[in-house]
Amino acid sequence: MTAALRPGGTIGILGGGQLGRMTALAAARLGYRCHVFAPEPDSPGMQVAAAATVAPYEDGPALAAFAAAVDVVTFEFENVPATTLETLAPLVPCRPGVAALRICQDRIAEKGFLEGGAGVPVAPWRPVRSEAELAGAIAALGLPAVLKTTRLGYDGRGQAVLRRPEDAAAAWLRLAPKPLVLEAFVPFAAELSGIAARGTDGRAVVFDPVENRHRDHILDLSFAPARVPPAVAALAQRHALRVAESLDLVGVLALEMFQLPDGSLLANEIAPRPHNSGHWTIDACLAGQFEQHVRAVAGLPLSDPARHHDAVMANLVGPEGLARWDALLSAPGVAPHLYGKVEARPGRKLGHATRLLPLGTLETKTDTEALAGLGGA
Ligand SMILES: Nc1ncnc2c1ncn2[C@@H]1O[C@H](COP(=O)(O)OP(=O)(O)O)[C@@H](O)[C@H]1O
Ligand SMILES: [Mg+2]
Repeated sequence: MTAALRPGGTIGILGGGQLGRMTALAAARLGYRCHVFAPEPDSPGMQVAAAATVAPYEDGPALAAFAAAVDVVTFEFENVPATTLETLAPLVPCRPGVAALRICQDRIAEKGFLEGGAGVPVAPWRPVRSEAELAGAIAALGLPAVLKTTRLGYDGRGQAVLRRPEDAAAAWLRLAPKPLVLEAFVPFAAELSGIAARGTDGRAVVFDPVENRHRDHILDLSFAPARVPPAVAALAQRHALRVAESLDLVGVLALEMFQLPDGSLLANEIAPRPHNSGHWTIDACLAGQFEQHVRAVAGLPLSDPARHHDAVMANLVGPEGLARWDALLSAPGVAPHLYGKVEARPGRKLGHATRLLPLGTLETKTDTEALAGLGGA
């Protein structure tokens, strides 16, 4: 085990979004400073950090100065170029490291790792580098299927659902020439995620699994704990822990999974960082995902991941989300969060709200009852 970061030490965060912001807030509570490095000025993370560097991720001199100013580096989104971490790694500890980042940046590497390295099943898939390969992949997997860019996708961007053979040409035109992957469409009963944290000593903890609902391909709601049989919940947690272990991760990750009608689970993707579906842990656990991430990155022992409440988290997306803010401020049992984004553009995640429910009561509630006070449509 490496020496723990001393109180007053500085954590460097690559990326300026809300995940970095909430990481910096958790770090502050543990007596650390944060230095955010991102290309955008006045980013949500910078607003709450002790120091900021506004520079492109490829700016060598800025990265060297950043490395000299911090004690450890982490990232808050997985599309930081891997070369940025490679530049930093000889100068300062990077947690997670570049190997984990590389796997999670590329859907093909990720699926190969899940199936081979971690032993976690995924839906059938084929790489697609040409229109002929697309035709072959459709013949092999059948329809419906989902065509995705292998890199830089988020919130459903860079994807097309193919329902009929005639959909293939338009999807190819829209997404090529980027490297693509075709996945069998999964007729899931629910989407779950497992959030695990792993420390520098290899010890790991996992939160209760969550059920996620999307709207317009953006996470809308998370229900914690997922209302699934105990064996399914335990399997989801084991999968998340296996992935963290196999990646040799130091930090937090989320494993997105599909639950099939028969209760079996297929992994969808890995986020090697705190995840939107873990925001409920800030208010419903002693140490939320951001604190666990800071503890891991700083070389501290991890905390107990047990929840002290059940929780429902609603994202505040775009102007409609923001319109709910005033009501959320006075809703009983609701913890509202805003990310400091100046422009409320449609589709942008501006904040979230977590409703706390007494432990063990979520499974007795209908969705309408569970969502009371969160102001969703
Ligand atoms: N193979 C699939 N079968 C069914 N639904 C899918 C499939 N792949 C993705 N989806 C749906 O699209 C959402 C976004 O896809 P995902 O691969 O997680 O990309 P992103 O990087 O945009 O989160 C998923 O949460 C799920 O609702
Ligand atoms: Mg996803």
